[in-house]
Amino acid sequence: MNTATLLAGIEDAARQAGRIMLEAADIRANTMEKEGHANFVTVYDKRVQAYLFETLGALLPEARFIGEEDGADAFTEADRHGYAFCIDPIDGTTNFVTGFRPSVTSVALLCRGKPYLAVVYNPYSDTMLTAAQGEGAWCNGKPIRSSDEPLRRSLVMFGTAPYLPELSARTFALCADYLPRCIDLRRTGTAAWDLCNVAMGTVGLFFEMQLQLWDYAAAGLIAMEAGCRITDLAGNALTWDGPSSVLCASQGVSKEDYLPRV
Ligand code: IPD
Ligand code: CA
Ligand code: CA
Repeated sequence: MNTATLLAGIEDAARQAGRIMLEAADIRANTMEKEGHANFVTVYDKRVQAYLFETLGALLPEARFIGEEDGADAFTEADRHGYAFCIDPIDGTTNFVTGFRPSVTSVALLCRGKPYLAVVYNPYSDTMLTAAQGEGAWCNGKPIRSSDEPLRRSLVMFGTAPYLPELSARTFALCADYLPRCIDLRRTGTAAWDLCNVAMGTVGLFFEMQLQLWDYAAAGLIAMEAGCRITDLAGNALTWDGPSSVLCASQGVSKEDYLPRV
């Protein structure tokens, strides 16, 4: 199957996943707690993931699956070979439960352990972000590039690594470092959407102390294909095989402004 057909199939699946999110009812009553501080899962996270496993499994039967809910939740040696879908059925579950927007569906297709195709879909604004390795990134089918503005004329977004309270102090030290060097800070509650905003050019830089592979695999490829730099918070290349800190900046942010200074 060629790249365009595969990407179109993943887009269709993500759009259907979005319908499940839009039609969800009684979300609070269908919410359970998971391990960690304020870490929720709803019946809809599980429903979306089951739908994506089934649909994407039919699209590319040889692919393995890494998914946040009810699936293999860790990258294995076998995932370094061939194809593996890495899925976050609902990124921004806390937003989904509370009614704060947005939440998105995130699907990356890894090929030999590196992101190859990516889809992030925001059903609330009907925004479809896609990317193909080496071919570009698109928003609703139109090519996107990250911003040319320097950090001092850009917004910075961050994630709070909410399930790991031991990282809070460092997170807010980083906020205090970046705040005087940029226009202002923003926090959306979905790391995939944050990274897509850097890719779309609305935001100059994003950081979070720890993310899971399914949070950043798809949006990380979209950001790279839009001209962004993406590394861990120490400036090391991402290995795309598990949890990591993530730092991502648009093409306008200089090397000197990129890394934290604390
Ligand atoms: C979370 C969101 C949030 C980020 C957390 C993630 P979830 O994913 O992306 O923005 O701060 O680190 O775990 O739990 O909503 O899928
Ligand atoms: Ca997530
Ligand atoms: Ca999730």
